[in-house]
Amino acid sequence: MDAKQYLKKTSAEVDGPIKSYIPDEEPMRLIEASRQYPYAGGKRMRPAIVLAACGAVGGDKSKAMPLAVAIEYIHNFTLIHDDVMDGDDMRRGMKTIHVAYDEPTAILAGDALFAKAFQIIADLDIPADAMREVLRYVTKAVWDLARGQEMDVCNEHQLVSEEVYTETILLKTSVLFAAAAAGGALCGGADAKTVEAINKFALDMGLGFQMYDDYLGIAGDSSKTGKSVGNDLRKGKCTLMVTYTLEHLKDEKKLAKFKSVLGNMDATEDEVREGMEIMKEIGAIDYNKKAAEDKIASAKSYLDILPESEDKEFMLSLADYAINREV
Ligand code: IPE
Ligand code: IPE
Ligand code: MG
Ligand code: MG
Repeated sequence: MDAKQYLKKTSAEVDGPIKSYIPDEEPMRLIEASRQYPYAGGKRMRPAIVLAACGAVGGDKSKAMPLAVAIEYIHNFTLIHDDVMDGDDMRRGMKTIHVAYDEPTAILAGDALFAKAFQIIADLDIPADAMREVLRYVTKAVWDLARGQEMDVCNEHQLVSEEVYTETILLKTSVLFAAAAAGGALCGGADAKTVEAINKFALDMGLGFQMYDDYLGIAGDSSKTGKSVGNDLRKGKCTLMVTYTLEHLKDEKKLAKFKSVLGNMDATEDEVREGMEIMKEIGAIDYNKKAAEDKIASAKSYLDILPESEDKEFMLSLADYAINREV
């Protein structure tokens, strides 16, 4: 089974539980806003990692289901707030929450999903020690994610080093994948050494995933990604591709052109495309691709510790899929 098929199967398994935890309550406007992203369904990569990590260490996957749902809710909470921060108006093919409702409702819908996630984690039927570890991983992930998001916002309109970029994406993206992976392994009864290896797998996979996501954010097809395209450039986000371009582009005319697009909220689609072409020519796209591939290769090496299984195979193929996708 390839990664896409496994994700489809996971969606079928988790969609019911995901929809079961938010009952009708007043005010229904907030409830509906909270339901929009989880019900719309994205790739469901994080719940799939929770379940696969549990299975790969020989655990009973049904024990990890509440954590799979909780992590997806946390992911969705961060997406709602991320869209406010990034000023994006499309996600999962629909209007973002602050656009469809308003900003206060988007903030509250995110908070509500965040709280619900921990209510669900309380349902986990696992030993107390494992529960404590799961809580450590998940709470640390959300804390680090907030730090990463703040860094991401602060990196706008300035040139940051590759080191700072990598630290930013580790915090804003990798840590939640890692909490999913380590949490799933803990639900499956894994020992500390195995949990740590699976955690490292997901941290590196998250880096590759986000590097590729930055590429999709500029070159992707919005009818496929379901998200706005080009806004990273317009907002002057300092992705690896941008850092590389600013450091290597010596042609003054092209540099001036690139700088006129970067951080220009009024840049047209054609101008964004020109910016993209400049990045391509200078080798920034290839550089980002190679960096993402290196992270994925490193991620996969951590799974050598696991015995062969369908779940392990999935985790390996998911790492490849993270940098080979249209969505
Ligand atoms: C989007 O994550 C946010 C990032 C960390 C880049 P996904 O690409 O996993 O989003 P969905 O869940 O499939 O919509
Ligand atoms: C999202 O990062 C990371 C989160 C923690 C939510 P981005 O802002 O780069 O991702 P998209 O492109 O909006 O999904
Ligand atoms: Mg965003
Ligand atoms: Mg963002």
